[in-house]
Amino acid sequence: MRAGNGKPVGRLDGKTAVITGGASGIGEGSVRAFVAEGANVVIADLRLDAAQALAEELGDAAIGVAADVSAEADVAAAVDAAVEHFGRLDCMFNNAGIVGAVGPIAEMDVADFDRTIAVLLRGPFLGIKHAARVMGPQGSGSIITTASTAGLAGGLGPHGYTTAKHGVVGLTRSAASELADDGIRVNAIAPGNIVTNMTARLGPGDADFEQAKTAIAKSSPLGIAGEPSDIAFAAVYLASDESRYMSGETILIDSGFLAGAGRKGGFHRGGSAMITGIAGT
Ligand SMILES: NC(=O)c1ccc[n+]([C@@H]2O[C@H](COP(=O)([O-])OP(=O)(O)OC[C@H]3O[C@@H](n4cnc5c(N)ncnc54)[C@H](O)[C@@H]3O)[C@@H](O)[C@H]2O)c1
Repeated sequence: MRAGNGKPVGRLDGKTAVITGGASGIGEGSVRAFVAEGANVVIADLRLDAAQALAEELGDAAIGVAADVSAEADVAAAVDAAVEHFGRLDCMFNNAGIVGAVGPIAEMDVADFDRTIAVLLRGPFLGIKHAARVMGPQGSGSIITTASTAGLAGGLGPHGYTTAKHGVVGLTRSAASELADDGIRVNAIAPGNIVTNMTARLGPGDADFEQAKTAIAKSSPLGIAGEPSDIAFAAVYLASDESRYMSGETILIDSGFLAGAGRKGGFHRGGSAMITGIAGT
């Protein structure tokens, strides 16, 4: 779209966002998409160097700040940085994440479990809390949290991760039910497998993006690997006024994996083991 003077109009023109975990993967993709659509962005990440390097590349529209999303003071400071530097906060994108504690539940270390919940669930709670502090008096705002397919079904991630992501879906609904009174919308995005550092590091050794891309495409019903931009497009929509009638929702973006229980062809093309078994073939 173009304004009367012929200049392109960004879908997020005049808006300011904080994006946690913005230095890498889905967060980085979202930072780039938000800036391309006219937003100012505070990139809040554990890795200050990476956040600042990205901000520098993007010019005046972005700043990088250090934040551990599990620490209330850090999250509060990231929100305050948006107001101090850019004058307002229109979107809080709680996206930072880790895989966290892995392994059988009977062997899981309690401190590892607690740390996983602290980053993946306390982090979004703190993001919503401090965004609401600024957005409430303003009477508007959009809060987004990155959930996961593992927040909608069991067996798709480790126990702590799955628990926290289910919590994100509940927290999104709960906060939406309160904050609608203040004109604040609260939504989540549940990605399937996306090629990022997180998935590229699941195997042994260094991050292998090509291997992750091939493996993800193979398991994806649509036969393609999810990229950070696939999630960033949805985040732009949720941050923009285009989604003004939407709150409390979790958008699933997973190549149709959960809809078809991960099967390609499945039931319909003889690919389901269960049906094959019953038919005795
Ligand atoms: N990649 C996937 O397949 C996938 C699927 C579903 C959901 N997700 C979710 O997407 C989000 C982003 O993950 P990604 O895949 O882009 O991973 P990534 O590792 O590329 O990026 C995560 C970013 O979060 C930062 N971070 C980690 N812990 C932090 C903390 N305590 N405080 C602040 N920053 C912290 C990291 O430094 C990094 O920049 C996570 O919430 C993850 O659970 C990812």
